[in-house]
Order: sequence, then structure tokens, then C-alpha cells
Amino acid sequence: MGRIRRASAHDVSGVYRVCLLTGAAGGDATDDHANPDLLGHAYAGAYLAGEPEFALVAVDEHGVGGYAVGAPDTRAFETWMEQHWWPVLREQYPLTPEMESADTPDARLIRRFHRPPAAADELLARFPAHLHINLLERSRGGGMGRALIEALTGALRRHGCAGVHLGVAPENENAIGFYRRLGFETLASRPDELVLGMRFE
Ligand SMILES: CC(C)(COP(=O)(O)OP(=O)(O)OC[C@H]1O[C@@H](n2cnc3c(N)ncnc32)[C@H](O)[C@@H]1OP(=O)(O)O)[C@@H](O)C(=O)NCCC(=O)NCCS
Repeated sequence: MGRIRRASAHDVSGVYRVCLLTGAAGGDATDDHANPDLLGHAYAGAYLAGEPEFALVAVDEHGVGGYAVGAPDTRAFETWMEQHWWPVLREQYPLTPEMESADTPDARLIRRFHRPPAAADELLARFPAHLHINLLERSRGGGMGRALIEALTGALRRHGCAGVHLGVAPENENAIGFYRRLGFETLASRPDELVLGMRFE
């Protein structure tokens, strides 16, 4: 089944690969993106750089099979990203008029680099941490998802967090079933995103 350890610089390419191969509501997003790095920049890389204590990888003899990453204080992480993560990407991928109007997955991600959404205060009051988890097909269905979530929520709990939230595409029924089985409850339901959460006390 592989083993879980903290992510390091060795894992950046593997984590980005997993992010792309699971980026279409759990399925392969490779064909949706001309630039294969953008999804990883948006949803994975910043955790390895900015929250290394809460960046876990599942590794086996084939490489990185999956990851769970998170931030104990979502607002503080947003501030860190403003200072350290987005500036490089904003310079590399400027918001040109073409980029403002293009209706492609890559353009939507680049607009997100420039205007990242901020989590709501009411959500963070009870669920200040957030996380992402993604496993390649070869690493699913054998308990690795549960093991990663338990390792990450354990670390968040020990850090003193009161609760964690996450966003999932409403069509990703597999992940929603998994989260519910692990005890996550629904906090908000929007057409484009279901927000789930778990309290630690
Ligand atoms: C969602 C995901 C992380 C689950 O990981 P996994 O390794 O397959 O899950 P596990 O084998 O650890 O399952 C843990 C528990 O959840 C249950 N479970 C898993 N999927 C389930 C489902 N769709 N419905 C109900 N229960 C489910 C398992 O039966 C198991 O129960 P148990 O531990 O009480 O016996 C994995 O399928 C994945 O990475 N999918 C693609 C990426 C993705 O969608 N990520 C989420 C984006 S928000």
C-alpha cells in the first residue's frame, strides 16, 4: 500500500502530477490544460512551500501515489500566499485582456492567481483549517485515503486547531461518500462546490 511521510522537495513533481491526474472532479484533467503546471500551482505547491508540517505524501515503489495537504490557519495561509506564492505566478502569467476574457480552464486558473477567493469569516470561526487530498487510482480503495486524513487531522488537532473544512465538486460522488464515511458534515452546498467540515472537539 505504500507509506506516508512528510513531503519534501523530492516530491514536488510527483505531487503536481497527482494534482493534474485527479484534477477533473477526481478524474484525469490532463486534456483540459495546455499548461500542466497550473493546477499544481493553484492547489498543491504552496502547501509544500508554506505549510511543510501539514504536507503529507503517500509513496510507493512507483513514486508519489497521492498526497494530503492543509493549513491550520486558513486566513494566515491566504496572507502568506499573497506575500510569497502569488507574486511570482502573477508576474509569469499576467492578466492580459485576452486572459481576462478567455473561457478555458487554464485562463480560469490564471485569473484565480490574480484574484484568489478568500474563505468566509463565519466558516473560519469554527473550521479554521482546510485540506486537500488526492490519490492516483493505484493508491485508492485500500485505506490510504483514511490513513492520510487521519495523519493530517491528527497533526492539525495536535497543533491546536478546532476544526477543518474542505471544498469538493458536487459531481465527485466518490470523494463525497469517502468524506461522509470519515465523519465530515455538510457546511454549505453551492452549484459549483460542496463545503464539508469536521470539528475536533
Ligand atoms: C477520495 C479518495 C481520497 C478516497 O481515498 P481511498 O484510499 O480510496 O479511501 P479509503 O480506501 O481509505 O476509504 C476509507 C473509508 O471510506 C470508505 N469509502 C471510500 N470511498 C467511499 C465512497 N465513495 N462511499 C462510501 N464510503 C467510501 C471506505 O469503505 C473506507 O471505509 P472504512 O475505513 O470505514 O472501512 C480517493 O478516492 C481519491 O483520491 N480520489 C480522487 C481524487 C479526489 O476526488 N480527491 C478529492 C477531491 S475534493
